[in-house]
Amino acid sequence: MKSDKIVIANWKMKLNLAQTVDLAKKIKTKFKNFNKGELAICPNFISLLEVGKILKDTNIALGAQDVFWEELGAYTGEISASMLVEAGCSYVIVGHSERRQFLMENYEMIHKEIKAVLAQEDLTPIVCIGENWEERKTDRRDFVLFDQLQQALSGLNIVGDQKIIIAYEPIWAIGSGTAIEPAEAEYAHKIIKLTLNDMFGMKTVDNNFKIIYGGSINSENVKGFTNLENMDGLLVGGASLDANEFYKVASAILK
Ligand code: PGA
Repeated sequence: MKSDKIVIANWKMKLNLAQTVDLAKKIKTKFKNFNKGELAICPNFISLLEVGKILKDTNIALGAQDVFWEELGAYTGEISASMLVEAGCSYVIVGHSERRQFLMENYEMIHKEIKAVLAQEDLTPIVCIGENWEERKTDRRDFVLFDQLQQALSGLNIVGDQKIIIAYEPIWAIGSGTAIEPAEAEYAHKIIKLTLNDMFGMKTVDNNFKIIYGGSINSENVKGFTNLENMDGLLVGGASLDANEFYKVASAILK
């Protein structure tokens, strides 16, 4: 799994259906002759089918922004992993910090969501972890990352070529306009890698995991993130809402 880096666009709840379709078309055109690495776009739920049609026959994958852990049943408002596959998704963001902040999602729930996603053959979870400002300021980041990984992934049996993407997203950097310093990201990714190695063994981590960074990446600061160790790609919010800007970010990382 290691060979290709991935750049994932997270459009959050920032665009309505018409704007989403328009941006997806622009991105499709912009990336027409682009065949490096992997690309994925995560629009809102109601746009998945339309964006899926636009991305058909491109090498840009479709992703969702959230998933519920049960398969079917009386869970008003929720969407299951198999429904996402049916809608054409190959990726799904799990436990984004905005959901942890505004919807009280916790790592017990995130753990169940990851399990539900891994039960689908071709659906890859993008598991979000990351410390808040207070935790960083008080030097607790390493423990927070370790603890979040343990809670999210403990007991999972990773088999075959099942893929898991860990998105390191320091909460204080998301949407702030200021990304983390590249050296600090490299350090945090090392902590994540060592923790995963401990939990699953180096071979599984090398084959099945990617570690990507998210938080205020744009076409200017992306240059610092191109040659870092254990940096397998990016999760991009704001900068993915403009086709040209997103192209610059993706082409800086995917070579
Ligand atoms: P941002 O968002 O790039 O706008 O900071 C990233 C994310 O929340 O995934």
